[in-house]
Amino acid sequence: MKPLRMIENMKEKKVRAEGDMSDANNQTGINKPDNANKDDNLMNSKNIPEQEMKSDHILTLTEVSKIYGELKALDNINLSVEKGEWLAIMGPSGSGKTTMMNIIGCMDRPSMGSVVLEGTNIAKLQPKDLTEIRRDKIGLIFQQFHLVNYLTAVENVMMAQYYHSMPDQEEAMEALESVGLGDRYKHLPNQLSGGEQQRLCIARALINHPSILLADEPTGNLDEKNEFIVMDIFEKLHNTGSTIIVVTHDQEVGDEAERIITLDHGRIAGEVKNKRQRPVIKGKSRG
Ligand SMILES: Nc1ncnc2c1ncn2[C@@H]1O[C@H](COP(=O)(O)OP(=O)(O)OP(=O)(O)O)[C@@H](O)[C@H]1O
Ligand SMILES: [Mg+2]
Repeated sequence: MKPLRMIENMKEKKVRAEGDMSDANNQTGINKPDNANKDDNLMNSKNIPEQEMKSDHILTLTEVSKIYGELKALDNINLSVEKGEWLAIMGPSGSGKTTMMNIIGCMDRPSMGSVVLEGTNIAKLQPKDLTEIRRDKIGLIFQQFHLVNYLTAVENVMMAQYYHSMPDQEEAMEALESVGLGDRYKHLPNQLSGGEQQRLCIARALINHPSILLADEPTGNLDEKNEFIVMDIFEKLHNTGSTIIVVTHDQEVGDEAERIITLDHGRIAGEVKNKRQRPVIKGKSRG
């Protein structure tokens, strides 16, 4: 299909897709960053001073808690992530991993504490501003794929471009090729295997060059071969300076990161530095 015709099709499909995206987004909390409104009264109840960002930190969480009634899903988290770092978050089910990713990914706000992403305290932002930051700075990979079922692979990637700036078929094709899906571009999501759908999600997450890539159980549904392919993509991203935060139950996936933090009952219960080194990119790593 010619690019122009494809963009026309995208426009025709956009109205339907917006409905679907908003369904998917509702599931993931994407357009409704919260949960947060109802605990607004808990926001910033402590007067935490604005963080001085160290230049090599892309993200700093200070005294972050997320409280649901009696439950502290996150309990006074302090964590900094450096530009270009590959961090794994592990811990038992219910320990707060997804809650933390949702807060970092601007899909939810903490009850207390500050979350400084590239110099902006996102804990204080209103939903509209959170949506903007998420669109511009964050690449999200979910275990459930949230692909639009009646758009082809390349159109799913172009849809992400559409919401960010302008659809660009050539760039979308390059993104598909970079995850080994160049020859599947016309396939609908249900004509792709689970591993291929996961790679399509990665292409979609990367298309707008996010500052930080967040992946919640990106290999949870994959066989060994597809897990290897996904980890290989992460490795290449790491080597080009991307900042990656990955939640996983799989120790082997965690071991690929530079650092693993373990959550338990909403607290950081452990931290391990792995052998992997930060790649040097023109003198220093970038975010
Ligand atoms: N919207 C909510 N309302 C009430 N409790 C919630 C809500 N979201 C999460 N929780 C609770 O917060 C705790 C942390 O949940 P979270 O999803 O972060 O766990 P997780 O570490 O990602 O677990 P898993 O490994 O099973 O995905 C759980 O006890 C969960 O039941
Ligand atoms: Mg989870």
